[in-house]
Amino acid sequence: MKEEILKKIENRDIQIAIVGLGYVGLPLAVEFAKAGVKVKGYDIDDKKTEKINKGVSYVKDVSSEDLAPLIQEGLLTATTDSSVLNQVDGIIIAVPTPLSKTKDPDLSYVIRAAHDVKRNLKRGHIISFESTTYPGTTDEIILPLLEETGLRVGKDFYLAFSPERIDPGNKKYTVKNTPKLVGGVEPDSTEVVSALYSLALLKVVPVSSSRVAEAAKLLENTFRSINIGLANEMAIMCNILGIDVWEVIEAAATKPFGFMKFYPGPGIGGHCIPIDPIYLSWKLKTFNYTARFIETATDINSNMPRYVVSRIQDALNEKEQSLKGSRILVLGIAYKRDIDDVRESPILDIIDLLEQKGAHVEYYDPHVPWVEISGKLMESVKKPKYRDYHIVVLGTDHSAFDYNKIYLEAPYIFDTRNAFKNNGVEDKEQKIVTL
Ligand SMILES: NC(=O)c1ccc[n+]([C@@H]2O[C@H](COP(=O)([O-])OP(=O)(O)OC[C@H]3O[C@@H](n4cnc5c(N)ncnc54)[C@H](O)[C@@H]3O)[C@@H](O)[C@H]2O)c1
Repeated sequence: MKEEILKKIENRDIQIAIVGLGYVGLPLAVEFAKAGVKVKGYDIDDKKTEKINKGVSYVKDVSSEDLAPLIQEGLLTATTDSSVLNQVDGIIIAVPTPLSKTKDPDLSYVIRAAHDVKRNLKRGHIISFESTTYPGTTDEIILPLLEETGLRVGKDFYLAFSPERIDPGNKKYTVKNTPKLVGGVEPDSTEVVSALYSLALLKVVPVSSSRVAEAAKLLENTFRSINIGLANEMAIMCNILGIDVWEVIEAAATKPFGFMKFYPGPGIGGHCIPIDPIYLSWKLKTFNYTARFIETATDINSNMPRYVVSRIQDALNEKEQSLKGSRILVLGIAYKRDIDDVRESPILDIIDLLEQKGAHVEYYDPHVPWVEISGKLMESVKKPKYRDYHIVVLGTDHSAFDYNKIYLEAPYIFDTRNAFKNNGVEDKEQKIVTL
């Protein structure tokens, strides 16, 4: 059967389904469709499937100009009907893997998607699971569920884990040119799933098991979380010592080997860096092992909003202004530059904390017209009058901001990203406070 399937893949005589059409699933669907593979997108959210079928994109990295022709040519369609999974040869799963309220992995979306696949599983199916998760999910949870059908992996169907590494907003590295790890639950699965991805992506890197692929993804994001945690703690220590942490980082980075730049900031956000390391530490807890680096970094990073608020309070204090009653404009609330995603954004925590302390907070973010914080709807100020605030707090360093204009008009600035300096503003009036 394997040879037959590899031949079909080689001839592009296959159709695939993508389960979950979000930040990960939609760009991937577009990439396969562009490569001439017929894609059926399946999502439980009918608003998303309707938009796709009209050729309208809701993911920033996918333009409607790219999407619409694929819909017109019939290369991509979207549906909320899971029976579509039975009509295709390959299935790629990219559903959310968040944390529960108690900060444990929430695999409910994965389990639901796996049940949909199970109901539609047939001989010859190629299944790839992409959602970030702890090592063992693919072979301990998904595989047994699928084999309840009586079909056997490696003989009747193929199953691999292939982590998604997409970096929203990154123009240089996209789904297409970021190397794709593939780890099958057995060797034939690695081979078949690798061949499938090779149709649309430039480089596929096979590894020996699904667990290696799962752990590699968690290492990548844990590495980032820990290094950002170190940069954040360095900022706190430098502040105590009266040293400019930004200059320290640039100075250290003149060493041409053995050092890599990471910057401090208001905390970490997004669907990945704050969450993925906790999937790893949770799994280790089931073996009575404490992942100490992860716990320390998570602790430092998640306390950054509180630290930033205390520094804003200190800055206002210098001007004999109490935080309570002060008018504050927060610039940028997305979790990182030039994107519209506010999931886990630490800037929302900063706004919440400032308001709890009695400050009057407004925000301006050209990418995020409105947001809900602690059940309260906030709308972005349309045309900010920087003069009207006691302090302007730079949360996210969007490139759309006119840093020179803001500097000229704002009476006082707290910059969590060193963005003014990075955008060429010279602080002649000594009115910028940085982390
Ligand atoms: N966003 C990123 O930058 C990024 C990067 C790398 C990896 N990941 C990982 O990829 C996975 C998906 O993340 P995302 O950002 O695309 O999430 P998302 O919330 O943007 O999209 C997930 C989609 O899945 C749909 N969905 C949920 N349950 C479903 C089900 N049972 N059947 C069909 N559709 C279902 C949702 O309606 C949604 O449209 C997560 O595990 C995430 O950790 C995300």
